[in-house]
Amino acid sequence: MFISCIKIDGFKNLSSVNIDVDKRINVICGDNAQGKTNLIEAIWLCSGLKSFRNSKDKDLINLKRQNFDIEISFENSFRKQKIEYKLAKQNIKEKNIKLNGVPLKNPSDLFGNLCCVVFTPEDLFISKGSPDNRRKFIDICVSQIKNSYRRVLNQYDEILTQRNFLLKNISIGKSSVDELDVWDEQMSRLGSYISVIRYAYTKKLNTFAGRLYNEISHGKEKLEIFYESSVFETLENRSDYNREMASEYLAKLKSTRQEDIKTGFTTIGVQRDDLISNINGLNCREFGSQGQCRSVALVFKIAQAYILFEETKEAPCILLDDVLSELDMKRQDFVLSRISDMQVFITCCKDIKLKSGIGKTFYIKGGRIINA
Ligand SMILES: Nc1ncnc2c1ncn2[C@@H]1O[C@H](COP(=O)(O)OP(=O)(O)OP(=O)(O)O)[C@@H](O)[C@H]1O
Ligand SMILES: [Mg+2]
Repeated sequence: MFISCIKIDGFKNLSSVNIDVDKRINVICGDNAQGKTNLIEAIWLCSGLKSFRNSKDKDLINLKRQNFDIEISFENSFRKQKIEYKLAKQNIKEKNIKLNGVPLKNPSDLFGNLCCVVFTPEDLFISKGSPDNRRKFIDICVSQIKNSYRRVLNQYDEILTQRNFLLKNISIGKSSVDELDVWDEQMSRLGSYISVIRYAYTKKLNTFAGRLYNEISHGKEKLEIFYESSVFETLENRSDYNREMASEYLAKLKSTRQEDIKTGFTTIGVQRDDLISNINGLNCREFGSQGQCRSVALVFKIAQAYILFEETKEAPCILLDDVLSELDMKRQDFVLSRISDMQVFITCCKDIKLKSGIGKTFYIKGGRIINA
């Protein structure tokens, strides 16, 4: 799958962008604060996910304008397609999104069409940073290939908020402990489902990322990735959600109730789980060197792209925002060579030289492409 044309107007500082892009490599070059990341963000939005910078919807629209328009034409192995994404300040709750002219209800209905993998400098810290980032990573990866997953996650989050609220009320005597039952039951079902899906994804990630890590370390180091559940002792051999899992989850929730009431929040559950990376048996978070952690981040992202490719049968589009300049030559070559059959957008401040002259370079200034 590849993008052929991008039109953006009124999205953050971008204005009158209208570019025919290269099937393989596109370099977006410009000084700081000219709109490079904004361009990447606009493409990402059309993949169906929220802004990777956590921008609020209203902040996506240019401060001086009333609306933004994004139009992306792309082709997969079957046909040419077009996504139109519009948002107006006046009607901020209502996104006007069309796929091939057909209106869609939610941005998530775009999943599975324009599949992208975005890689930013913050991602380089995935194995060192907080578990929250790793859960976010796995949840995005799964959402891209399983449309219904995002809905379940949202439901789980709502129940968690309600349960935590109730816990606080119980501790001040405003509610009774029995009221937890109804939330715990729902939480157990949703939580078990999320656990099993994340576990299955982790197994795939382990296979792909493990292989890539073996290559980047020239066979000297072995990377292993595990899903660490705060509820289940092991998820081994569990490929599907079932009732027994939910019962086990529920029993665990009940066993921690007293502690939960005391602390005012839910101490076990998928909101506490983690993705563990071990290099030669040592936890990367605690023992990994900076170089090892960077390599882990690279192979995570490339593996995400490979899994997406395998699941959707289409090569995803890779968005590299400012990461190449953060990597040494060896790692730059590694990334580019492993995604050589995918379309890539690379942002950078300095002109980078592309091997054998393939691809296009776009210069951006003040939100406009100046060499179009
Ligand atoms: N809603 C908005 N309206 C107008 N301008 C905005 C809006 N949101 C962000 N901007 C501006 O867009 C500019 C470009 O941002 P962007 O992050 O794309 O820069 P960049 O080219 O990636 O820079 P860097 O090299 O530093 O990463 C910023 O100066 C920012 O103030
Ligand atoms: Mg930037």
